[in-house]
Amino acid sequence: MLSMITSRICIRTFVTNSKVKKVVIIGGSGFIGKYTAKAFIQDADTSIELGARNSKIVNELKSLGNQILPPVSSDIISKSDILKACQGASIIVNLVGIMHERPPIYTFDNVQHLGARNVAIAAKENNAQLIHISAIGADPNSNIPYAKTKALGEIVVREICPNAIIIRPSIVFGPEDDFFNVSYPSYPSYSGYPSYPSYPSYSS
Ligand SMILES: NC(=O)c1ccc[n+]([C@@H]2O[C@H](COP(=O)([O-])OP(=O)(O)OC[C@H]3O[C@@H](n4cnc5c(N)ncnc54)[C@H](OP(=O)(O)O)[C@@H]3O)[C@@H](O)[C@H]2O)c1
Repeated sequence: MLSMITSRICIRTFVTNSKVKKVVIIGGSGFIGKYTAKAFIQDADTSIELGARNSKIVNELKSLGNQILPPVSSDIISKSDILKACQGASIIVNLVGIMHERPPIYTFDNVQHLGARNVAIAAKENNAQLIHISAIGADPNSNIPYAKTKALGEIVVREICPNAIIIRPSIVFGPEDDFFNVSYPSYPSYSGYPSYPSYPSYSS
């Protein structure tokens, strides 16, 4: 279940860092990002900043309370954007991933490999706990660019932040996903919360 991924992110970070103040979620405007923000909100001492290019969702989440900080524009391929967005963070979650390239700028490599590098550098500079969301099947030898660049992203994250938590989800599904809601609009929803099939995870 998606609640598994969000609670896993929260529990592990709160256990390892009891003085959590600011959580930055890069890719926070996406499907998983929104629920990750809602999970972090459960801790009243935590402020959540969504690094996003799309402020619509951020404004939507703002109604959840003043724990949601003003959004910071963050394009993952811009190191300066990411450094700015992550300033003062205790926890940084990287949820950025793409299914389709928009060359020449938004290629799989620029977003999922070099972009992950930018986030890892920001985590290191802030001494923040990095939670990096990769994907099942990530493989540096794959000839599928999505899978290959997810693996290259993991490798660079591990080089820069050896203590990063790397999660490799399988398909995440629920009321707002792009999978069952597109393919099977009448698929029954489960308790109103996105679900998360079993998947292996990889962490330090
Ligand atoms: N959902 C799944 O079934 C699934 C399965 C395995 C792995 N994952 C991984 O989990 C992560 C989150 O997935 P999701 O389903 O929440 O994806 P999503 O709904 O497509 O959200 C992706 C997020 O990445 C952001 N993004 C894309 N390009 C960006 C860029 N250049 N700079 C900054 N932000 C950018 C998007 O923001 P904009 O709105 O600005 O584009 C959005 O907030 C991804 O890394 C994905 O690969 C997901």
